[in-house]
Formats: sequence, C-alpha cells, structure tokens
Amino acid sequence: MSKIERVDPDLKFVRKIVENGGGSVKRCYQCATCSVVCTLSPKDKPFPRKEMLWAQWGLKDRLVGDPDIWLCHHCGDCTVHCPRGAKPGETLQAIRASVISELSFPKAIAEAVNKPQYFPALLLLPMLLLGVTMWEAGTLKAHPGPIIWGNLLPHSVFFEGMFMLLMGWSVVAGGVGIVRQWQHMKRMCPADKDAKGLPIGAAFVQAVKELLWHSRFEACGQNRARTWPHRLLFFGFLSAMITAGGAAILEKAFHIPPPLPNPDAAAWAYAVGMFFKILGILGAVGLLVGSGWLLNRRMVNQDQTGDSSFFDWAFLGVLFATGLTGTLTYIVRLTNNATLAYPTYFVHLSLVAFLLSTIAYTKFAHVFYRTTAMTYALHIGRTVEEICPALPAPPPQPALPEQAS
Ligand code: HEM
Ligand code: SF4
Ligand code: SF4
Repeated sequence: MSKIERVDPDLKFVRKIVENGGGSVKRCYQCATCSVVCTLSPKDKPFPRKEMLWAQWGLKDRLVGDPDIWLCHHCGDCTVHCPRGAKPGETLQAIRASVISELSFPKAIAEAVNKPQYFPALLLLPMLLLGVTMWEAGTLKAHPGPIIWGNLLPHSVFFEGMFMLLMGWSVVAGGVGIVRQWQHMKRMCPADKDAKGLPIGAAFVQAVKELLWHSRFEACGQNRARTWPHRLLFFGFLSAMITAGGAAILEKAFHIPPPLPNPDAAAWAYAVGMFFKILGILGAVGLLVGSGWLLNRRMVNQDQTGDSSFFDWAFLGVLFATGLTGTLTYIVRLTNNATLAYPTYFVHLSLVAFLLSTIAYTKFAHVFYRTTAMTYALHIGRTVEEICPALPAPPPQPALPEQAS
C-alpha cells in the first residue's frame, strides 16, 4: 500500500511569500516548462516546479530545508518561458526572502528590517549610536584645522566596542542561521543512497572556488549581463573588508596609526599601508560601480532583471549609498573641506555599521545561505553534470487577465 503523507499547510507563510513579491505563484498549473528550461537545475527532482507547488500549498518546512532555492540564480529564464505568467524566478526570490526570516535569529529583526515602514528608523539607529559615541568622547563639535578622522570619532573603547559588538552579533546570528539551515536541509533533502557526494570539507572548498568567480551567472540567458557588476561588487566588498582589517592590524598589532600609508612609519610599513590604500580605493570603486550598475539595470532593463521587491531595492540602495559616501569621504578630504568631510564620514560610517550589523537579516544573508546550500548540494552529490546553454526567450505573449487569489 502506498504511504499516506500528511500535508501541513502554513497559510501565514504563503501570505509572506505573496507580500515578498511572489503574488503570481497561484497561476502555476504545474506544466514543468520552468524546470525544463532552467540550466542550473539537476536532472533528479529539478527546480523550480516543485517549489511552486510547495509555495502554493504553504509547505514551509520543505522550502526552508530546500537547498535548491539557493542554487537558483534568479536569471529569469523560467519566467520568460512560463506559459501562465506565474513568474517562477520572482517567486523563488520571494521564497528566499521569506526563508531568511524563518532562519533568522531572532526572527523579529529580519521581519522588521525587510518592511518599508520600519526600515528608515532602523537605518537611522547606527547614526544615533555613533552620535552617543561622539557625545561620550566630547567630540560632537566643529573641528577646525587639518582633517583627522580621529578628531570626530576617536578610537575609544566605546567606539571600537560598538563595532565589535555589531560585527560579533552578525557572526552569531549568521552562524545560528547556517546551523538551522543545515539541520533543515538534512531533514528535508537527505542524500540519495547512490549519489556520489564529497566530504564536507572538500565540498566547502569546491563551493568557495565556484562562488569566487560566480561562473554560473554566465549560464543565464535573460539576466546574464549581471555577471560583471556582481563580480565588481563582490571583489569591491572583499577588498574594502581586507583594507579595514589590514588598517586595524597595523594600528593594534604594530602601533602604526592611520593615515594609510603613514609617512612616519618604517619603509616596510609604508609599503604595506600603500598596498591597503590602493586596495581600499579599488574596493570603493568596485562597490560603487557594481551596485550602481545593478541598480540601473533593475530600473531600465526590467525585461531582463524581472520584478524587484523592497527586499532587492533596500539591499542594493544601502550598498550603493555606502560606496558613494565612502568615495565622497575620500574626495572631500583631498579638498580639505572640513565642513563637508566630517558629516560625509559620519554618514558613511553609519551606513557601514548598518550594513554589517544587518548582514544576517537582509538580502545580504545570501552570502551565508548560498554558500551553505552550495556546500550541502556538493556534499550530497546534488549537482548539475553539464550546464547547457540557455534557450532564447520566446516572442512576447499577451498578458493573462488578473486573477482573484
Ligand atoms: C558568498 C558569496 C556570494 C554568492 C554565492 C552570491 C550569489 C548571488 C546570486 C546567485 C545572486 C542572484 C540572485 C539574487 O538576486 O538573489 C546574487 C545577487 C546579488 N548579490 Fe550576491 N553573492 C555573493 C556575495 C555577494 C556580496 C559579497 C555582495 C555585496 C557586497 C553581493 C551582492 C549581491 C547583489 C546586490 C545582488 C542582486 C543583484 C541584482 O540586482 O541583480 N553578493 N548573488
Ligand atoms: S511556474 Fe509556469 S512553467 Fe513552471 S510549472 Fe508553473 S506554470 Fe509551468
Ligand atoms: S530563475 Fe533561472 S536559475 Fe532560477 S529557477 Fe528560474 S531558470 Fe532556474
């Protein structure tokens, strides 16, 4: 006798997917065209048809423990081929946004930060914290003379403590999310008996190799042009983080304070400082150009990028504002305009604090969950043997009438 499976739908989760931009999910009539055209989907139990069904039925546990939602690159090829206008690419994006909330620790922060009504207040919170830091240090006043950032925000226990706390919090929250995701995946997507997987360590190394160049973006048909801006953004962010870490090590471990390079430092320290400075400038350019390019694509190439939700705009907007204020801070300092330089630096630092402290809750969390899902998929042997070229988009179809949900 066949096994009877009890379906436990979660209607709140369906509503959340709809709120996050998956409103067309109910149009899906399970024809599986999307799974056939997806170049990144494995042969066995391919996506995204099954995810469309699970989303319609509100099968939250299956979606939370599904590595496939993170293997999807939102290239939109399935969306343009879907005969029902069910927008599977956008639905998967909405599922990812909803799953981030479910995996988050604590969930309430993710719920708040991804809602337009709370977002502005949360964006201002780091400014308030930095303001308190300056008040505590007595630096909340004009600073005539040469521009020295430490005049505004001295590296006090309070200032450094705040950044360490925010970063530490992100590591803890991200770590809890990763453990939860792994446990869910083990339960909902166990390895097939005859699949040939890699040991976890080797799977992780392989996943990191793949994500460093993001070659899978090149398999996309519709949204392939996103490959280079994402690479710029990725390496820009990495370079900026390495520069910040390098400057901190120079100061704390070798007692060589900023600026980078410090003209009073020994020759080796000057050279290292110069290296970090160049890396930092390249990082800021990558961050600014990459995020600006992606923002522009979402605004003018909607036929290729698909629909964008608040979840997409907020993350891209904060990245762009961070890159822009960082670049402006550098330029304004060169012009020696203290009236502009200090406020610009203040806004830039607040944005950095926001970005880093919300990494586990916004779209930025894809850094954690995609890496984990890619590792898990390689570990259980769930991979695409050969990535085929994407099919060309079909001629535009007349829009279907709106349906009552
Ligand atoms: C672990 C490394 C990373 C992986 C595997 C990864 C992968 C992806 C994938 C597959 C997408 C397309 C799907 C989507 O829009 O959700 C994407 C989008 C995006 N990623 Fe990443 N990413 C990584 C790191 C980063 C980093 C470090 C940043 C920024 C600092 C970043 C910023 C973005 C942005 C802004 C988008 C949206 C692009 C658009 O507007 O079309 N990613 N990422
Ligand atoms: S999303 Fe579209 S293409 Fe995919 S199964 Fe549903 S109706 Fe078919
Ligand atoms: S958006 Fe692209 S990667 Fe994602 S399911 Fe559709 S075709 Fe596959």
